[in-house]
Amino acid sequence: MLSKKTTFGINGEIIIPGDKSISHRSVIIPSLANGVSEISNLLMSDDVIHTINAFKLMGVKIEEVKNKLIIHGLGLNSLKKPNKEIYLGNSGTGARLLTGLLSSQNFSSLLTGDKSLSSRPMKRIIDPLTNMNAKFDTTNNKLPLKIIGSELKKYNHIIKIPSAQIKSGLILACLNTKGKSTILENHITRDHTEIMLGYFGADIEIEKNSSTKKILINGKKELIGKNIEVPSDLSSAAFLIVAALINSNSEIKLKNININPTRNGILTALELMGANIKLENTRKLNNENIADIIVKSSILSGCELSESMAELMIDEYPILAIAASFAKSPSIFRGLGELKVKESNRLELIQLNLERSGVDCKINGDDLYIDPTKVSDIKNNKIKTNFDHRIAMAFSILASKKGDLLIEDSNSISTSFPKFKEIFNNAGGNLIET
Ligand code: S3P
Repeated sequence: MLSKKTTFGINGEIIIPGDKSISHRSVIIPSLANGVSEISNLLMSDDVIHTINAFKLMGVKIEEVKNKLIIHGLGLNSLKKPNKEIYLGNSGTGARLLTGLLSSQNFSSLLTGDKSLSSRPMKRIIDPLTNMNAKFDTTNNKLPLKIIGSELKKYNHIIKIPSAQIKSGLILACLNTKGKSTILENHITRDHTEIMLGYFGADIEIEKNSSTKKILINGKKELIGKNIEVPSDLSSAAFLIVAALINSNSEIKLKNININPTRNGILTALELMGANIKLENTRKLNNENIADIIVKSSILSGCELSESMAELMIDEYPILAIAASFAKSPSIFRGLGELKVKESNRLELIQLNLERSGVDCKINGDDLYIDPTKVSDIKNNKIKTNFDHRIAMAFSILASKKGDLLIEDSNSISTSFPKFKEIFNNAGGNLIET
């Protein structure tokens, strides 16, 4: 895909598709509930479709009726043994959450994924599940992963690597395990699983103090089907937000965006850089915080972000790096180690592609330095994405300001935002299929 400069800015009222994290959970949790759940604004991206297919394979009746997904849940312990492998494509969320869930079922299953997912670490979820007596067959702690379903024992977990995927996989295992299990977190991770389980009537309690959060789950309590309206995805909105900020003559309004406080670091970071962003109409939707977001072209300054910000916005560093590339002063983003084990090594690809685009950028350990005062012309217009959707979208936005960039393997964008090209072009973007 070729991404070119935009001429008249990014404008209009833009509808962003449903949140990816909440969409996965909006398939998984209703499938485990008793009764029917109707899901609207579900993100129909490749990752979520793989999760839907997984539950269909395990006997859950899932129908698409008039833009809604109707899920006929089977209850906590009635999934059927799939008659073939469960293929999860590119989805780390699908892989970690299903590993937890399937380890407590009374059948064995095999999880597989694409090249990127098959290289991502699974030990982080396998190890804590093993403490509950979960059994796996794996040669290198990666996919393909055979999960030997069995009755698990309750456990008091302490999360070592801050990750909502690990936490959520464990919660799903504890849900189908007799007795009270606990999960202790010392860092903030997104809490969509806890919020949705509370809404579906799970026996789940949260104890919070200033530095830790304890989740108490009393297993084997059946869930009750509920309707869900999935809020729009802040992570997808972030590409349009930065496009509007860096291109002059821009003003956009993004409606119903999820601003869950465990996820909204990108807004804090951009405001720190001087972005003109306003939130309107803040309210709750199925216990999630949402708002309409208004963004105008802005002169940005660089900023320094500590490691603790990474917990609140890990998926947004590729697009934040693009914002930083057009600021009037340098930025330092610290503690980005987890970026190395996402859909690609994002830290390395941000640095490589910014350098190709003529932006001065360095990595020091887990820290990223961007100096927009030292810019040159594009050195190599090929953007290497390693099939990573967020790298592809972030550099499309960079080109909207700077000029022609050829985004390699841009079909990866359908992982999270299949209508990105159409939506961005309708707002004034200039993306061309090559
Ligand atoms: C996700 C959690 C995050 C995030 C991913 C989605 C989720 O991963 O990067 O895109 O839906 O739980 P980690 O929890 O491993 O950081």
